[in-house]
Amino acid sequence: MRILRRGTAGLALAALVGAAAFVALTRPRPIERAALPEHSADLANGAAIYRIGACYACHQPPEQVAGADRSLPLGGTPLPTPVGTFYPGNLTADPETGLGAWSELDFLSAMVRGVSPDGRHFFPAFPYPAYAAMSLSDLRDLWGYLRQLPAVRAPARAAEVPLEPIARRGVGLWKRFAGEPAAIVPDPARSEAWNRGAYLVAAPGHCGECHTPRDRLMVRDEQRALAGAPHPSEEGRVPSLRGLVARGRYADAADLALALQYGETLGYDKLSSGGMGKIQSELAQLPAEELAAIAEYLVSLE
Ligand code: HEC
Ligand code: HEC
Repeated sequence: MRILRRGTAGLALAALVGAAAFVALTRPRPIERAALPEHSADLANGAAIYRIGACYACHQPPEQVAGADRSLPLGGTPLPTPVGTFYPGNLTADPETGLGAWSELDFLSAMVRGVSPDGRHFFPAFPYPAYAAMSLSDLRDLWGYLRQLPAVRAPARAAEVPLEPIARRGVGLWKRFAGEPAAIVPDPARSEAWNRGAYLVAAPGHCGECHTPRDRLMVRDEQRALAGAPHPSEEGRVPSLRGLVARGRYADAADLALALQYGETLGYDKLSSGGMGKIQSELAQLPAEELAAIAEYLVSLE
């Protein structure tokens, strides 16, 4: 009896230590409160970042919302993932249903740390693990761009994730495995356009979120960056972005830039399914020199 009681006490203690460790290891780390330096947002750059970031691709309203301007990121379209279904929210400045009550620092914490203003983790279905590598000035231009969109009331729908509170807290553990994104160091031996392309692909473009394979902990394997992967929705495969010219997929960088701009309407294939169609329609709205930079970088990957 005593042994049993001691055993139970031991188990209870272990559970307590386990729970305390879980709480400690999963603690959200928002950006420290600090005064941000003056910044006057470059709205044209903010718009370009919004397009390459494909914010609208996930935050668009579903077809059936009546009376709303569908070109605004009002949220509500279901995003099915292996952990559950998300309904990415309203990114306009409506104070109740959008980001109207958020400070710029709240936004930076969401984009860089994946933490909400009320101190909870976002699931990485929101591709902040890539956005975190964006430059502060690009993030602030993007914020400026979102702020000047017409504010529309569009209530968000809660995510449908089994055991959501625990799973959400558990994201903190995943963040520890995933670590901080590697800093994007410019390569002086390459052209300015190549370096711009490398940055756009890795950070705002988050191309690796689908095109880079993951290890068993679902962390991107950067040794095999952009080498193709099983689709995140678990259906089909995302093709490799390496050797695109050597494999005869495109004639050269200019050809790839055209493919990214016009997609399948110009007779290119493999640019529509598995979410790529939505990404491509966003890329189509980028200035030509940004597409040329992305293409120059991609065709250099062996
Ligand atoms: C692949 C889909 C996807 C893309 C692309 C995406 N988001 Fe989201 N976003 C989500 C999901 C899913 C959530 C909710 C995550 C959760 O509930 O934990 C979210 C949440 C957010 C939030 C928190 C508030 C809210 O609406 O829930 C902000 C802010 C946000 N996203 C901004 C952006 C911006 C800015 C971009 C473009 C640079 C962007 N997102 C691109 C999927 C996406
Ligand atoms: C949501 C996941 C997802 C994201 C994010 C994504 N892709 Fe894709 N991509 C795909 C899928 C899936 C395909 C294959 C589509 C098909 O076969 O119709 C594809 C195909 C492509 C192709 C055609 C490859 C070939 O063999 O011709 C290119 C080029 C490409 N993507 C570039 C990009 C770039 C550049 C980015 C970042 C700006 C990006 N993708 C982001 C899922 C994604």
